[in-house]
Amino acid sequence: MKAVALTRYLPIDDPQSLFDVELPKPEATGHDLLVRVEAISVNPVDTKVRSPKPQEESEPKVLGYDAAGVVEAVGPRVTLFKPGDAVFYAGDITRPGSNAQYQLVDERIVGLKPESLDFVQAAAIPLTAITAWELLFQRLPFSIDSGGYEKTLLIIGGAGGVGSIAIQLAKLASFTVIATASRPETVAWCKSLGADHVIDHRQPLAPQLKACDFEQIDAALNLADTDRYWETLGELLAPQGHVGLIVEPRGALNIGGSYKSKCIGIHWETMFGRSRFQTDDMIEQHRLLNQVAALIDDGHLRGTHTETLGTINAANLREAHRRLESGTTIGKLVLAGWGSEGFASLALFRASQGSSFPRRRE
Ligand SMILES: NC(=O)c1ccc[n+]([C@@H]2O[C@H](COP(=O)([O-])OP(=O)(O)OC[C@H]3O[C@@H](n4cnc5c(N)ncnc54)[C@H](OP(=O)(O)O)[C@@H]3O)[C@@H](O)[C@H]2O)c1
Repeated sequence: MKAVALTRYLPIDDPQSLFDVELPKPEATGHDLLVRVEAISVNPVDTKVRSPKPQEESEPKVLGYDAAGVVEAVGPRVTLFKPGDAVFYAGDITRPGSNAQYQLVDERIVGLKPESLDFVQAAAIPLTAITAWELLFQRLPFSIDSGGYEKTLLIIGGAGGVGSIAIQLAKLASFTVIATASRPETVAWCKSLGADHVIDHRQPLAPQLKACDFEQIDAALNLADTDRYWETLGELLAPQGHVGLIVEPRGALNIGGSYKSKCIGIHWETMFGRSRFQTDDMIEQHRLLNQVAALIDDGHLRGTHTETLGTINAANLREAHRRLESGTTIGKLVLAGWGSEGFASLALFRASQGSSFPRRRE
């Protein structure tokens, strides 16, 4: 099968940072589905895993944590899906990823693809929807059924992949949503998704909130930079408020001060947590993806795909990584289909180990 992989962790402008290779097609066992991948999306986690470091892999490592495709075969313990089902999922960061024609994924973290979305649009959804849903409705103490009624929610990084779903979920939960965006096109995108107010995260937040008649906020999702907004959020959050975090801090955070005196709840979300630790409730991700699909099919949530960068190959994926590393993408980037060009064989890869891989195909 065709796949895009790495063996060395290189800057994205290096053509060997991601390369095309033929790998053996895997076989489904246990709870696994073998999925024929039709479309993939890219996320900052792909660039973080790929980021330059001295480590080397002896075998090609496949990244990619968002896919839509069709179940080709199922393991003997599978009960939720059958061959031919169209599915969408983010997958498990400890296993080979979705940048391959076929991928194994545990059925308990897979949902049925929304019927109203094609594979391209569906691939844009899973990782960000799982993140925003788990954060808002499973880590913070809010329910989707009016849990945000008469409450204000500040979403930092509203136009990013996670923000684009979080704004919509927060509106469904009846929050008054204040999103942040710093450019005219990201401001317009946040408003189109339902944000009630949009303020600029490059400017001081307090005076902008005051101008919208908010002295304090009930909850905040920091989807961009944990350290940068930490102190400000401590000041802006109301007593007994809540902050949701998804980005690893660069340094130590003072969890005392305003956070302690105001009894502010600090909540972490890592969407790979359930699959990484094989938690007893990992089937919650199957359920939430199906709920998201139903909300999309009923017209309550809309897709967040903004651009397709071509077929799935190393050159197009390098371009996707480059865009994500710029920190200026809006919504989600997708790659779809596999093209007709040949990928280098694994035998060629093995023969070339010790020298430079990939080499041009003869
Ligand atoms: N823990 C988890 O499970 C989890 C899951 C998903 C993502 N994440 C992490 O969450 C972060 C966001 O992910 P994403 O997919 O939403 O990213 P993304 O799509 O790449 O976000 C792009 C957006 O970020 C905004 N932005 C850039 N710098 C900002 C800043 N300093 N403050 C506020 N907004 C800023 C930009 O808006 P403007 O152009 O308007 O400035 C841009 O539209 C990443 O670090 C990602 O790795 C964690």
